[in-house]
Amino acid sequence: MRLFASLLCALLLSVAPAFSQTQLAATPPMGWNSWNHFAAHVTDADVRSAADALVSTGMRDAGYVYVNVDDTWQGKRDAQGVLHPNERFPDMKALGDYIHSKGLKFGIYSGPGEKTCGGYAGSLGHEEQDAKMYASWGVDFLKYDLCSFQDNMHKAQAEHPNDPNAANNLMIAAYRKMGDALKATGRPIVYSLCQYGVDQPWKWGPGLGANMWRTTDDIDDSYGRMIAIGFSQAGLSKYAGPGHWNDPDMLEIGNGKMTADEYKTHMSLWVILAAPLLAGNDLSTMTEADKSLLMNKDAIAIDQDSLGKQGDRLYESGDLDVWTKPLSGGRVAVGLFNRSWSVREVSVDLGQIGFPNGGSVRDVWEKKDLGHRSGVVVETLPKHGAALLIVGK
Ligand code: GLA
Repeated sequence: MRLFASLLCALLLSVAPAFSQTQLAATPPMGWNSWNHFAAHVTDADVRSAADALVSTGMRDAGYVYVNVDDTWQGKRDAQGVLHPNERFPDMKALGDYIHSKGLKFGIYSGPGEKTCGGYAGSLGHEEQDAKMYASWGVDFLKYDLCSFQDNMHKAQAEHPNDPNAANNLMIAAYRKMGDALKATGRPIVYSLCQYGVDQPWKWGPGLGANMWRTTDDIDDSYGRMIAIGFSQAGLSKYAGPGHWNDPDMLEIGNGKMTADEYKTHMSLWVILAAPLLAGNDLSTMTEADKSLLMNKDAIAIDQDSLGKQGDRLYESGDLDVWTKPLSGGRVAVGLFNRSWSVREVSVDLGQIGFPNGGSVRDVWEKKDLGHRSGVVVETLPKHGAALLIVGK
């Protein structure tokens, strides 16, 4: 009996991963991803220089540790079904080793379909084989992008016209399949679903081991698109928490098409949302302004707060918007936003956010303690501007 018990115990230990979904992403993952800047042209050298820059700029030490190669690294599958990288990526294991040697983590990209969005090989029918290969390369993060699998979903729906869930069930099964394959490798690999918010992934993502899921279609480097995504996140806060995060897509800060105030809005909103912070710019050409947004300690601490609560909208009034995020120690982060084309005053009543007797207020972007304040705090914001405050007892 005792022998049986210890055998059973040994068996369980050998199959159960030595890490939990929560530990894998106790706070929203932070790092860099190649897509927003390099898109389909990314090379091994670009990724190595991003890794170098994460270290030299201080971003790694500020928390940005994942170095994620997005779409277009893939070459062809051989007769055994093994997927090889293309000529721009001579040796993925060596790339992973290089990234790890810098104290960083290695991320990769695939999808459940036959093809990725860029038309490169996806993992359909090769899920376990690919997962094992990623683990052998030392991969720490997988972004799994729906793309051509939507064709399979349309087909399933056409074949089962009376089942309204046919397409979505097929999609969920495909995401579960890769989630199980990753777990079976025994390597802790953050699992990031990219399926643009189809069928409310915040409801089923956590159940299949996902650590984050995109909530919307793609961001681009424009104020209009960024705020359309950011402010549409209202109401989703209850679905995020340690180990499982809503992902409103990667950052565009530093890509050059928004103003400094617009990028400030971007960062303020993403940290209030407890969003994964994946920089999407060319780190080797960052300006001081980009660095001060991406590496502001208080802003990062809001995003990474140990309570793991996503923020949500407090109120919206025309082009003015105020959001709050509960923080550890009874503190609250407040994001004040002016979406209009002129200077406007935006206010928050401290009584309304849990401080009837007022509280200490810190201005995150000004890096200034404003002292004890009570009642209504008013911020004067430029067009498309934002302020970020931390209120404590
Ligand atoms: C989709 C994703 C993007 C990026 C591209 C790559 O559009 O949403 O984030 O990964 O595919 O092809």
